[in-house]
Amino acid sequence: MFVKSARYYDLIKSLKEYQKEADQIIDTLKYFGISSGNILDLACGTGEHDKYLKSKFHIDGLDLNKEFIEIARIKNPECIYNEGNMIDFEINKTYDAIICLYGSIGYTKSLDNLSKMIACCKKHLKDNGLLIIEPWYNPDNWEVNVIHTTSVKSKSVSITRMSVGREDGSINFHYLIGENGKGIEYFTEKYEFGLFTHEELMKILHKNKFDTIFMEHTFQKRGLYTGKSC
Ligand SMILES: C[S@@+](CC[C@H](N)C(=O)[O-])C[C@H]1O[C@@H](n2cnc3c(N)ncnc32)[C@H](O)[C@@H]1O
Repeated sequence: MFVKSARYYDLIKSLKEYQKEADQIIDTLKYFGISSGNILDLACGTGEHDKYLKSKFHIDGLDLNKEFIEIARIKNPECIYNEGNMIDFEINKTYDAIICLYGSIGYTKSLDNLSKMIACCKKHLKDNGLLIIEPWYNPDNWEVNVIHTTSVKSKSVSITRMSVGREDGSINFHYLIGENGKGIEYFTEKYEFGLFTHEELMKILHKNKFDTIFMEHTFQKRGLYTGKSC
């Protein structure tokens, strides 16, 4: 997962509006009375949201992928990044908020792992702390066998990435990458996801004593779950 493609991630996502997404997170936190303090960015990737969140909050990040953590550390030297698994992490700290964005929750793959992750978040939140989750697809809106294509270019690199979702929730990504001075490379990566229903997610959040609201109309197109730890 994301091993060969890690160094191209920011270019591939260069059209994603991270600043506007971060603004939505800041507004949401403010709505819940959190205007300062510390945030844990779970599955933080290359730390692109953190670039904008760090002006208002102290940010720690956690990701499974070492290559991403290295990029995030260079980008945001004032943030603390941990290599770890969001399903079972141990940071000796509690947070005002934990965020898990861009559908990364799908990587928990199973309800059992999702439960473990939510329980772990609970343990790392202060009283009245807020958990914000941007969901992944659910079984009803998941598109099977539909081809998606992204093409991006910088001065020296051209990338075309095609992907197709499978019935079991996995996605095969095909990368064609041309780099001046290096040539053209082709490789594939397979990503496996869990497709959780709204009811399943709400049930697990409720079981872990999160007072949860699903905000449907957010800048993030699949909405945001906000769970206040109570
Ligand atoms: C779609 S990317 C999102 C990254 C970043 N939040 C963003 O918005 O660009 C999903 C991220 O989840 C991370 N990831 C996948 N499984 C994970 C796990 N079990 N624990 C921690 N991070 C994980 C990947 O390494 C990747 O950085």
